[in-house]
This record gives sequence, structure tokens and C-alpha cells, in this order.
Amino acid sequence: MTRVLVTGGAGYIGSHCCKAFAEAGYEVVVFDNLYRGWRDLVRWGRLIEGDIRDRAALDAAMAEVKPDLVAHFAALTYVAESVADPARYYENNTFGAFNLLEAMRAHGVSRFIFSSTAATFGAPQTTPMDETHPQWPINPYGWSKLMVERMLADYAKAYGLRFASLRYFNAAGADAGGEIGERHEPETHLVPLALEGALRDDYRFTIFGDDFATRDGTCVRDYVHVTDLGSAHALAARHLLEGGEGGFFNLGSGEGATVKEVADAIETVTGRRLPRHIGPRREGDPAALVASSAKAQSVLGWRPTHSGIAEIVESAYAWRLKEGTRET
Ligand code: UFG
Repeated sequence: MTRVLVTGGAGYIGSHCCKAFAEAGYEVVVFDNLYRGWRDLVRWGRLIEGDIRDRAALDAAMAEVKPDLVAHFAALTYVAESVADPARYYENNTFGAFNLLEAMRAHGVSRFIFSSTAATFGAPQTTPMDETHPQWPINPYGWSKLMVERMLADYAKAYGLRFASLRYFNAAGADAGGEIGERHEPETHLVPLALEGALRDDYRFTIFGDDFATRDGTCVRDYVHVTDLGSAHALAARHLLEGGEGGFFNLGSGEGATVKEVADAIETVTGRRLPRHIGPRREGDPAALVASSAKAQSVLGWRPTHSGIAEIVESAYAWRLKEGTRET
């Protein structure tokens, strides 16, 4: 049976991809330090508790699991935190990935899926953005990930690494089975925060700027359902396992939604009013980020089939209702 070692498999995107790998017939083993991950989100395979900065722990996991492929999600992902404390981002995201690649090389593991991000592009110069768009990040988070992309290209050339680097735009939504969903501490993302605004009187939802050059003045983002991200990872794994050419792939729905449109969808789905306070722009927010995923569609055969805003919000709402009653 094909074995996949999933770092960060106890996190939001990692856990959904574990489900997709398991459904594709792969044996999943999660490697996670549970710093921002959650033990109860590990449902498709066992958990090895370990830190990617710890080379000995990685070597032990490689020796024990003998993976056919490594899917790497373990990372810190808050842009503002990366600006305030870049060292942590370079240590976890860049050095941690280096450690992992070196442990793989030492153990003869040559297939790798990397959880990359639209943040590696920086300010958009064209829209939609395809893989040829220039990359010049505007925060340490983006740099910490772009440096790994550089390593992947160099390792492929020199050491025969076969990789797929998947750059997500705005991951959102929750698994339709209701077992897993988005859980961040602290939460900063639009869909869960806007849901709080609709569901609670004591939470004030703020729109960060309504004076952008967009159709309604609020930022446009490309929301892609986390279940669609899961299927992209399963397809990328199959592609690499079958000897296909790897590379870099942008993953988005190809459709942009404004903050106000997301807020409207939340009102429709919940049947509740979402009071909207207009605040100042958040530093570093570009007006519009929309992906072209034509390459993922043609090379991997990927189709985002769940990424309409209504389905994203419905699944996130169902998860929020479940989490609200979850015993912790
Ligand atoms: N927004 C609000 N109010 C909120 C939260 C968000 O108006 O309370 C707006 C933001 O200004 C932005 C949009 O909603 O226009 C989406 O914001 P998110 O924070 O949900 O997502 P980002 O586009 O900022 O972040 C995404 C990924 C990050 C990644 C980043 C960089 O979630 O992991 O893109 O491209 F780092």
C-alpha cells in the first residue's frame, strides 16, 4: 500500500488532505507537533508527535514509516505575526522544510507535495494570476515559503526530487462529512469571523476597507473549498507516483468574491443579519487576488467542484454549529 507521511496533518488544510489521501487508497501517517494542530482532527491514520525542526525526530519517522511520498503542511501561516517575528517563520517554515527535505534525501524518499501559497507572489500585477506571474513577496511569511519553492527547484535538478508545489489562494469551507473543519487559534480569516458576526451579538465584524478599486469597494479574493484542495493533493500524489512531471501549480476557483459578497452569502445561508462595520484597510491587503488554475486543470486533471461561495459558506456554517456544541 502506498504510504504518505503528512506533516501538519492535524491542521486545517492538512487534515482535509489526509481524508483525500485516505479516500484515494493511501495509508496516511501524520507528523505534527500539535502546536497549532488538533489531535481530534487526525482521523485518517496514526499520529507521530514531532517537530519538523527536530532532525532526529524526522529521521526516526522516515525510518519507521518509509513513506512513498511526503506531503508537507506543517507551517506558521499568519502574515502579521511573520512581520512582527520573522525569525520564527524562517525557522519553522524555511529551516523546517530544509530539515524535512534533508531527512527525505537521507532516507531515499523522493516525492514531495508542498503546501505553498499565493503569498509567494506578492502584489498582483495581472489578474487572474498564473504560474508565470513574478514572485516578490511583501511579507516574511511569503518569503519563508518562496525560499522553499527555490529549494525544491534546486533539489529536483541536483538530487532528482520530484515535487508538486501547490499555491493556495484563499482556502475556506469545511468537509461535507462534518468531521473536520476550520479551527484556528486565533482566528483571522474572513469566513469564520463573518459567521461569528452573524451568530453572536458580542462579536463585531469589521470589513477592512471599502475604498478599493473593485466592484463594490471591498477586496476581491479567490475562495477555494478545502475539499477541492484535498482532491488537488490526491491528484498531485497520483501524478508524482505515476512518474509525472511535477512543478508549481496555482489553486483557486478562478472566480473572485468581494468581502461584501461573502457577507451577503453568510446572511443568506444563516438567515441572520450580519452587521457590517467599516474599518481601515489592513496593511498589505491587495485589492484583488484571483488565480488561474489552468495548469492544475490540464496537468493534474483538477476541477474545483465545491468552490462556489454558497457551498463554502454552507459547509463552514455547518461546522461552526457543530463546533459550537463540541465538548473540549
Ligand atoms: N477581511 C475583513 N474582515 C475580517 C477578516 C478579513 O474584511 O475580519 C478581509 C480581508 O481584508 C481580505 C479578505 O477578507 O480582503 C480575506 O481575508 P483573510 O484574512 O481571510 O485572507 P487573506 O486573503 O488575507 O489571506 C490569505 C490566506 C493567508 C495568506 C494570505 C496571503 O488565508 O494564509 O492569503 O496571500 F497568507
